[in-house]
Amino acid sequence: MGCSLSHKSTGLLLFFALQQLTGFQLFHVVPPTLKPLVKNQKPPVLIVPGSAGNQLEAKIDKSSRVHWMSYKKSDDFFTLWIDLNMFMPIGFQCWVDNIRIVYNSTTRKTSNPSGVTVRVPGFGQTYTVEFLDKNKLSGYFHAMVSHLVNMGYVRDETVRAAPYDFRVAPNEQETYFAQLKKLVEHMYEQYQQPIYFLSHSLGSKFVLYFLNQQTSTWKDCYIKGFISLGAPWGGASKLFRVLASGDNLGIPLISNIKIREQQRMASTNPWMLPFEEVWPTDHTFVSTPSFNYTQKDYKRFFKDIDFEDGWYMWEDTRKLTAGLPPPGVETYCFYGVGLPTPVTYVYDDKFPNADPVDYVYGDGDDTANSLSMGLCKRWIGKQAQPVHVKEFKALPHSDIVSNSEVIKIGQSILEDKYV
Ligand SMILES: *[C@@H]1O[C@H](CO)[C@@H](O)[C@H](O)[C@H]1NC(C)=O
Ligand SMILES: *[C@@H]1O[C@H](CO)[C@@H](O)[C@H](O)[C@H]1NC(C)=O
Repeated sequence: MGCSLSHKSTGLLLFFALQQLTGFQLFHVVPPTLKPLVKNQKPPVLIVPGSAGNQLEAKIDKSSRVHWMSYKKSDDFFTLWIDLNMFMPIGFQCWVDNIRIVYNSTTRKTSNPSGVTVRVPGFGQTYTVEFLDKNKLSGYFHAMVSHLVNMGYVRDETVRAAPYDFRVAPNEQETYFAQLKKLVEHMYEQYQQPIYFLSHSLGSKFVLYFLNQQTSTWKDCYIKGFISLGAPWGGASKLFRVLASGDNLGIPLISNIKIREQQRMASTNPWMLPFEEVWPTDHTFVSTPSFNYTQKDYKRFFKDIDFEDGWYMWEDTRKLTAGLPPPGVETYCFYGVGLPTPVTYVYDDKFPNADPVDYVYGDGDDTANSLSMGLCKRWIGKQAQPVHVKEFKALPHSDIVSNSEVIKIGQSILEDKYV
């Protein structure tokens, strides 16, 4: 398989070009560096997980402790996400103190709290997206990867993952995107086939941002297609709730207000607020006894919830995928519909320090709104490559990665049998 950007085959292409120029034809030239193709080998798959969809590890050396039980110093990296200790009342404070990020509104940069080093383990491997904890209790991409392995894929070889620090938006992810590009090129070189991106939720927005940064020549060469599951392309109204009063992600032992501190400190969360250009301008996202917040009121919203850094983070990130430029590769846009999904959060006087008292529902996958997920339809006809949009009735946001119908359809794409 030839690729004009592959540094290994540049010489060969030049050779072919010279042949063309001279009208001299030579057939059956096999580049000496290429591995022989495995018969029927399917295209490599690279998974980009959603928010909170891969493990994070931390190492601590702090001068003071939040609680006497918190580690002050750890000899080695330990798992920060998911750490089952966070489910204990005391463990939670220590955990928040470690996982929060610090934002400097002068430099407009995020960092870890002093004394905490966070790293993303397992780049290029799958374990960190298959299960989120070391005890393998919280499965995520495990069913999908297992199915791929049954099809003949090999973990950490032909199927890999590109985990990232999901607390930090793409504007501060240069290193990650550089690594991602290298990994794509490496997989291409290794298996002599362009790859498929397979992503979920926030991961799809990371992939879109990444693809928008690449030239079409690069994409034509290295990317076979982009399979996106449950992507809130235009943001999600849920983020208003997450930022205002917190959302415990369904973990019953943690209160929403307690987890709010951590959720506010991720710059990915302001980035996921509904995009201005795709929602009706008069739509009320948050209703309190004293004010109805629409998209004109983002600045006031951040001020009223006492989180003005959030406004700066939103300003820093709002343009990253503004206008949703088409990915420029063949795209499969799959998402769940038909489930009541909040579009307005109604609070009483305790706003923002208590849960909403009521909701107005719209259509979605229980987390993301179909209005936002369906924005990929805009790409049909806007790019040379096909865009396939498929809606799955009553399929919840977090189940789409392990749903057997979705997995089967994924298989048909990889086997080039998608209809
Ligand atoms: C933010 O960064 C500036 C410039 O580096 C520095 O002077 C300031 O102390 C920082 N602010 C905080 C709160 O750390
Ligand atoms: C917010 O909107 C609702 C529904 O339109 C309306 O009944 C209510 O009076 C509004 N509240 C404020 C404070 O404007």
